[in-house]
Amino acid sequence: MDDKWRISCCGLPLIFTMCVCSTLILIVAARSTSDRQQTQVVGEYSNQAQLAQGQHSSGDAQIQILGRRFYEIELTQGRAIYTQYCAACHGIDGQGQFPASPLEPDVTGRIGAPPHNETGHSWHHSDVLLIRYVTEGGFSDPARFYIMPPFGDILTDEQILFVIAYIKTMWTDEQRASQQQLTEDEQSMFSD
Ligand code: HEC
Repeated sequence: MDDKWRISCCGLPLIFTMCVCSTLILIVAARSTSDRQQTQVVGEYSNQAQLAQGQHSSGDAQIQILGRRFYEIELTQGRAIYTQYCAACHGIDGQGQFPASPLEPDVTGRIGAPPHNETGHSWHHSDVLLIRYVTEGGFSDPARFYIMPPFGDILTDEQILFVIAYIKTMWTDEQRASQQQLTEDEQSMFSD
């Protein structure tokens, strides 16, 4: 057998097999990459879904102000208003201005903006008082407290309700129930 024959008999089938193998490897590699990309996309969507749910810790809980029920779309607007107008002082998650010691005076001797989440005591106030607080601003001694600005000229009455409704999503079910009871008791006291 001369050299020419050896190349055709052994070399050509070898080259052919190598071509087939490398094509197969390429196909498998391409498929696994696109699988990974798909998984990533699905992962991102489910993260977004979780985020969207997490935005309203209220879950199915009913959020009410003076007997009016507030729904997701209004709570979302309330969240946007809160982020824009309240979060700088009360904390993005309602944790208060000085979360480590919210009720302790700072070096200036004044107490900062209180938390609105379940660690605070905003839920001790009736709906009427909460609305008044946001509309007219704080009425505590400015020597002992930082000042809570009035929002009556900045936000509409409706926006004030939305932001209070959103704050209520930061409370526990028990706190919401207790605050609703307080509001109803106060209402019936004044309607007698
Ligand atoms: C410049 C800082 C600042 C901003 C902005 C601010 N607050 Fe306040 N807020 C305070 C301070 C300080 C207090 C406590 C002072 C007081 O009671 O007079 C307070 C008190 C309150 C209270 C009474 C809560 C309690 O537990 O006694 C409510 C309700 C409230 N703020 C809601 C809001 C809402 C809603 C917004 C946004 C629309 C807002 N605040 C924006 C500083 C601020």
